Amino acid sequence: MKFPALLVYAFTLAALGCAHRPAVVRTVIPLVPQPQELQQHSGDLTFAGKVSIEADTAAPNARRALDDVLGALQLANDDAAKPRIHLQRIDDAALGAEGYRIAIDDAIRLSAATDTGLFYAVQSLRQLLPAQAQAHYRLPQLTITDVPRYRWRGVSLDVARSFLPLSYLEKTIDRMALFKLNRLHLHLTDDQGWRIEIKHYPKLTEVAGASAVKGGRAGYYTQDQLRGLVAYAQARGVTIVPEIDMPGHVQAALAAYNELACEGVTNLSTYEGTEVGFSVLCLDKPDTVYPFVENVLKEVLAVFPSKKIHIGGDEIKHPRYAEFVTRAAAIVDGMGRTPIAWEEASVGDTKPDMLLQLWNDGYDIAPAVAKGHPLILSPCSYFYIDHGNYAGQPNTYDWCRKEGVPLPRIYAFDPTKFPTAVGIEGALWSELVHDNAAADNRLWPRLAAVAELGWTTTARRDYLGFTRRLAALRPHLDALGIGYYADPELGWSE
Ligand code: ACM
Repeated sequence: MKFPALLVYAFTLAALGCAHRPAVVRTVIPLVPQPQELQQHSGDLTFAGKVSIEADTAAPNARRALDDVLGALQLANDDAAKPRIHLQRIDDAALGAEGYRIAIDDAIRLSAATDTGLFYAVQSLRQLLPAQAQAHYRLPQLTITDVPRYRWRGVSLDVARSFLPLSYLEKTIDRMALFKLNRLHLHLTDDQGWRIEIKHYPKLTEVAGASAVKGGRAGYYTQDQLRGLVAYAQARGVTIVPEIDMPGHVQAALAAYNELACEGVTNLSTYEGTEVGFSVLCLDKPDTVYPFVENVLKEVLAVFPSKKIHIGGDEIKHPRYAEFVTRAAAIVDGMGRTPIAWEEASVGDTKPDMLLQLWNDGYDIAPAVAKGHPLILSPCSYFYIDHGNYAGQPNTYDWCRKEGVPLPRIYAFDPTKFPTAVGIEGALWSELVHDNAAADNRLWPRLAAVAELGWTTTARRDYLGFTRRLAALRPHLDALGIGYYADPELGWSE
């Protein structure tokens, strides 16, 4: 017996063994994130081989996802077959843009106000079903009403230090969708590389796209490729949020276009090291720098429809830093979008709708919160998952937390301390993450904890239940081909 099945079995026996036998046998309902309301009823729905579908045509993404699930399970769509799966858009303001309901009795009823909500209902159904085709299927009879706690449930990938191929980004989006993660933040530029084609500045990809951190991968994405990725993500409920990191972290851009550096700067080569905070756009040459910022952002915004655009702003000390943030944020604002910047940008004179991304645990963000800035929460000792799955894991950083960032650490985070939080984001920096396998190992299963923090209210979360539900989903991670860290916290081993 594989471990998850054994776990479910043992847990069931434990429930049966209670002095006051519960009316309903409680097995693990393997849902991550935990839904807001879940009632299990007595009885199961059993079926084999085929189902029928009645689907609203106004939910094409949910329908495609359902067809994918049924295809993987070799369940044919036959109009005469039972059970019937209903996919229905309903007028229900309480569900918002992403909420959904599921009722499983002698039919399977999925309903939501939006295609995205129905897509998430399908993801929950997918988790309730096995990952591989079976001769017979058994679903618990239940009802679910589910809405996310936060609208921003993000993953940040640093493709600048070391490039990640487009196919890996698509895979990551597929995996995010299973856990209802909905923002993929791409850190597209840094000292070591520039990864997005900018037609106005071809040397950004010719020169800066060809460089990477030592041992890492170089490369870049064309605008057409990124447009394709945006569409791929949209069909799976994911918004891609681009970051152009400025005015620091720009050595690659300076190497491509030397005039962006101040006179007298002699180090204008591409960079393979891992230091930070040494490069800066020449803020004393506003007539050079701001047209560059504007031209780059114009092309970035034409590729990415995201309402929110990240302009970086981290790790640079300069007398004109606040002025830069103010002007760069105004440029994004003037283009009809909303800027995001790292926490340090709170010193700028920006509109209060600029989002700030918190990354240092001890940063005094209270004044920015008082001004009303929404926060994306990524404090490094919880959400920097380039840190180890365990203390001392090879090829991981530990500058923020020497014990690493293990699963229970992430889960213990309390987002309710931040009244203007729009959500949370796990960040994978790539100085030490040079291939897909390392990325998988750092991202999973920890992103499942990020997902539950972002989706589920504090009152509905508990770590033991989370580990049981996630452990039961291991076959789904396997079916997606994820090279996850086999975390002993979940009873897993290699
Ligand atoms: C950062 O880690 N420099 C945002």
